[in-house]
Amino acid sequence: MQTLKDSELRYRRLFEAAQDGILILDAATGMIEDVNPYLIKMLGFSSKELKEKKLWQVGAFKNIKASKAAFEALQEDEYIRYDNLPLKTKSGQLIQVEFISNVYLVGGKKVIQCIIRNNTEYKRVLVALGENEKKYRDLVNQSPDGMFIIGMSGKLLTVNKAMCSQLKYSEQEFLSMKIWDILPKQFYDQYRKRIKKILNGESVGEAVEYEVRGKDGKIHYVDVISAPHYSGKNIVGYQGIARDISPRKRDERKIRQQLAHLTALSAIDRAINANFDLKLSLSEVLIHVTTELEIDAADILVLNSHSPILELSAGRGFRSKTIMKTQIPMGESYAGRVILERQLVHIPNLSDEPDNLFPKSFLAEEEFVCYFGVPLIVKGQVNGVLEIFHRAALEPDTEWLDFLNAMAGQAAIAIENSTLFEGLQRSNLELALAYDATIEGWSRALDLRDKETAWHTQRATEITVNLARVLGLSETELVQVRWGALLHDIGKMGVPDEILHKPGPLTDEEWVVMKKHPTYAYEMLAPIRYLRLALDIPYCHHERWDGTGYPNGLKGTQIPLAARIFAVVDVWDSLTSDRPYRAAWTEKKAREHIHASSGTHFDPQVVDAFMQIPIN
Ligand code: C2E
Ligand code: SIN
Ligand code: SIN
Ligand code: FE
Ligand code: FE
Repeated sequence: MQTLKDSELRYRRLFEAAQDGILILDAATGMIEDVNPYLIKMLGFSSKELKEKKLWQVGAFKNIKASKAAFEALQEDEYIRYDNLPLKTKSGQLIQVEFISNVYLVGGKKVIQCIIRNNTEYKRVLVALGENEKKYRDLVNQSPDGMFIIGMSGKLLTVNKAMCSQLKYSEQEFLSMKIWDILPKQFYDQYRKRIKKILNGESVGEAVEYEVRGKDGKIHYVDVISAPHYSGKNIVGYQGIARDISPRKRDERKIRQQLAHLTALSAIDRAINANFDLKLSLSEVLIHVTTELEIDAADILVLNSHSPILELSAGRGFRSKTIMKTQIPMGESYAGRVILERQLVHIPNLSDEPDNLFPKSFLAEEEFVCYFGVPLIVKGQVNGVLEIFHRAALEPDTEWLDFLNAMAGQAAIAIENSTLFEGLQRSNLELALAYDATIEGWSRALDLRDKETAWHTQRATEITVNLARVLGLSETELVQVRWGALLHDIGKMGVPDEILHKPGPLTDEEWVVMKKHPTYAYEMLAPIRYLRLALDIPYCHHERWDGTGYPNGLKGTQIPLAARIFAVVDVWDSLTSDRPYRAAWTEKKAREHIHASSGTHFDPQVVDAFMQIPIN
């Protein structure tokens, strides 16, 4: 009963705070039962003028026939949507709204819920694009989003300042160009189809994502909303707003890259453990090095333990066969220098060094532009070199270099394994360290998307591990707890930005999506063998002691201990941080909340322990 009350209250709050108009009708009679404050403000009618009337008795919905027809249709099927419904406010102003309605059963009674969203402002800006008055031009030029008008032939007719600064073309330059100059070929078809629809006056619905090329050759990702451009009554072109979403895209790519890196590590780990054939293990390393780092060629040279000679053990991506038989003397090669200096050698442009140590014929055939040599070090001993070659310039970032180093570590371990069996234990430790670094990097990328400050999850993880140690978990279990905590919200990758970054409370529909994040985490991590035991936290951290949590409604000790421990820290951590949807609480208030939730949300024993450990 209490839960029913709670959910009623919550619904009420959502209804009242919503930034869309909401209208509830009795499905049997068509009578308006409830209307939220936002709609009252939008329409200017008082709650009294709206309630206890049929829709078509209110001045706003003055098209009686249409309203009745829609009402009847709603009683038949269950969903109606208008993109552009004209409504009249009390003061007589015409507004265009998006109108969505659904039929629900509430306590055995059928009701219709209508969501009404005002699009007038945004439409006005689009229309303004077509006009010449200065005030509109200023408005357009102050917009942080790109805005443009394109003629029938694809010629750019108008662009605003943001378009120019994003893509680095001057207005002059733009006006002598066509859309085809900035749109990559693979988008031509999609663009032509859309423009055909727009020119026919058909609705093209939601925003579309394109890539466009700036003057500096850089690709920008843009979200484009578009509409026909009129001259008098004729459609003469196409106008739109292009929002640069490149930063978001870059974050997404980073997250995907981390996942690929982790999977690669896992595959290599399997290969190294499954066979003691060194060449096979090293080939596996090179497959991942070339694909993940997107480079043309790589090889691994192993140091002969009896003489100062490097032997090529595996190579990939070379044109010439000659390299495959090379034995390289230490003194006259970059690889030798890598070994002696025990550090990375990077040559950004081989043609800048006419006296470089590579044979001329080799470079002529391969056409390599840049080179990296990384020492393979295990237990303080150098046992080989990983060499990377690329036929264009490279601008590596930290992730790239981290992965390169992790791969060098793996290769070193493979070489070590093949010669020393007693080294096995140690290698496992090295492997765990490589995993750890990757998982930490991954966790930081996730925090950025969640609009957390980086290292935030790191701190929560440390608290969790301390708490778990106090509660008696073994050191082996703590490793898994640590990984689980670092990745606890990885499932939020499946939650769209609009929901994750929403500044206000979530609607019921949005909660449905948000509550899927533990299940998404399970689906993503379960295939990674190394993380199987770390899954408890990502999957079960929103279960509650009293059984009212999600996704499975587990109760009491049915919930894995690691998840019960983490749940306390997660809430503490969330409450003491600024979130898009609310400001941080004080630590005192957060502690009181946790104390008060002992036995309902949280395991009382975990709360007791939490209250005793120092936190800073
Ligand atoms: P999160 O921000 O990491 O929050 C984790 C958990 O901390 C929440 O799980 C909840 O148990 C607790 N918590 C966080 N903030 C508050 C608060 O202000 N009051 C109370 N009493 N508890 C709080 P929950 O509720 O299952 O939420 C899961 C995730 O859903 C949150 O992760 C957050 O990403 C998102 N979320 C929750 N509420 C909202 C909201 O109102 N707006 C938006 N945009 N997202 C929300
Ligand atoms: C309207 O067309 O005016 C409203 C449709 C409805 O009754 O849901
Ligand atoms: C743009 O000009 O930024 C994109 C135009 C479009 O494809 O609609
Ligand atoms: Fe979560
Ligand atoms: Fe969280």
